[in-house]
Parts: sequence; C-alpha cells; structure tokens
Amino acid sequence: MKFRDDWAMVSIERIEDVSPTIRLIEIAAGNHFKNWAPGAHLRVRVKVEERIEIRTYSLIDLGDDEKKYRVAVKLMEEGLGGSRYMWSLQVGDALEISQPHNHFELSCYASSYTLVAGGVGITPLVSMAYVLRNSDKPVRLFYGVRSHTEAALANLLRSWLGDRLELCVADETGPLDLKRIVDSVTGDGELYICGPIAMLETVSRIWKESGKSMGALRYETFASSGHYPTRPFTVELPRFGKTVEVAAHQTLLAALEAEGIEVMSDCKRGECGLCVVNVLESNAPVDHRDVFLNPSEKEESKKMCACVSRISGGTLTLDTAYRGPTPNA
Ligand code: FES
Repeated sequence: MKFRDDWAMVSIERIEDVSPTIRLIEIAAGNHFKNWAPGAHLRVRVKVEERIEIRTYSLIDLGDDEKKYRVAVKLMEEGLGGSRYMWSLQVGDALEISQPHNHFELSCYASSYTLVAGGVGITPLVSMAYVLRNSDKPVRLFYGVRSHTEAALANLLRSWLGDRLELCVADETGPLDLKRIVDSVTGDGELYICGPIAMLETVSRIWKESGKSMGALRYETFASSGHYPTRPFTVELPRFGKTVEVAAHQTLLAALEAEGIEVMSDCKRGECGLCVVNVLESNAPVDHRDVFLNPSEKEESKKMCACVSRISGGTLTLDTAYRGPTPNA
C-alpha cells in the first residue's frame, strides 16, 4: 500500500465538542475538496514539539450533503501529541491535509452489514451508518463506550438507525459481547469494526475460530491504543553501537529516525509492515499495536512494527531491516 499525498493548506471552519473528550473539527477545503466514500480518512500534518508528524483521521458524513471535511479527534492527554495539537486549533487556523484515502471501503455485496465501534472508533462507521440507513439489507451498529457522556453522535445515529443501533455502556452493562456479535453474522454478511487494537484482535480471533471467511471481516484501527501504558523505554542497537531513548510522546520509528537510523516506512498506522524491525531481546513484553503481524508472530515477538509498537518501560535490543550506511556513532 503506497500513499501519494497531494497536500493542501486549508482552514478550520467550525469546532464542536461532541463528548467531553471528542472534538468534531469541520474543515473548509474549498477547491481542494474531493468526494469521498464511507471509510475514507484524511492525513493531517500536525506539530509535535516543533516536529511535523502525520496523523490520520476518519472522515465523517453528518448527512447534511455539505461538501465539507469533518473529522473527530479524541483528546489523548498521555498520547503522542497529535490530538493535543488538533485540540489546540481554533476556528480560522490553518491546517495541512491530504486528499482522502480509503482502505476501509464498504462493499455493495454483503447480505447483511454489522458495524462494531469501540469508543472513538465510531468515526468511520458514522458515514457507513448514514449510507446504509435506508438499505433493504439487515444493518446493525454495535457501539461500545465507557459511559453515556462518551457516546459521541449517538443521538444522530439513533435518528438514522432506530433500534438497529445497540449502544453498550460498559459502566452499566459491561463491554460489548463480541462473541455474540460475531456469531450473529451469518451467510454472506460482513462485519466492519473500528476500535482499540485489543478489541480488533479479539474479534479477529473469534471470527477465525468460527470458520467465517476472513474477507468478510473488515477493520480499521487507531494506532494509539495498546495493551500496556505508554511509557518511555530504551533501545539498544548493537549493529550501530547505539543506544536510543524513546520518549513517551514518541514512536520507536521517530526516535530511530531522529538518531539518523533509517527505517523504511509508509502507512505509519501499523498496517503495511514496511517498518518491521527484528527484536533481538527485550526485558518487557512487546506491546504490538499493529494489524500487520499475525497472532503467532506477535506471540513470538521476534519482529515488531516500529511505527506503532513499543514496550512499556525497560530495554529493547533491535536490529533494523534497513541495510544502508551506518550512521555516525
Ligand atoms: S509504516 Fe506501515 S506498518 Fe509501520
């Protein structure tokens, strides 16, 4: 998968908090606006401690036919910094964005559609729910949140889907019953899921065990979610004779690049596998946050995706796949 971006400078037109931690940002793209289909996302240049980094945000269709880009950003105070930057923006501020990309497309051929969202993972599914609301095929949306206040856009979704929206509030009824949801998909039905990596892995495992076609399970992830807290850690690179410190706000890939150690990369979302590095040793479990490696590769932990995966404190000894010139020690 190769992204080719046409970057454009646009401006923020409207901001609305749709939950205490999720902010809807409306972007006036003018001539740069391109039509997009449900599941699409924008790549956005954000500033993190004076560095420019790229983040991806799913596009949202609010069903009002307006030719506008809208994204929703969850504020992650302990995250890598992209959401803090997005939350610092005001109406009228400039923002550099790509054209829409889509690798979470809604097919036309399913006999039924089951949409599953965990928290802010609802964002790509909003547009799908809008398109599917009048479908003559069965459509259901399972939306899991921690508390009622976090159920961003739930009223809008309810107005489109009625009781085909099942809102599951963990504080009241416990988490989504993922096994029941997977078991309810029959025949040529498809399941579309977006949420934390642990949720995706669980659904993927149950789906596989049930013998369903893997092609009918479609997913989107957000790379900031892991199994362990995001903490700084140390990386030893024996081939380069270097030790690199990875800050809590930094990805392993960014820390390596900052030291002049080249690692091939593309998606920076844990999807393409280009940034895979070899793990020689680790004194803490590798927190795999990608969807590229398979479960047995993750269990072995001999490889990891440097763009999203990390360890939660401790020391990791690595060799990079790149065989270019050794940077100055
Ligand atoms: S750059 Fe694509 S998985 Fe890391």
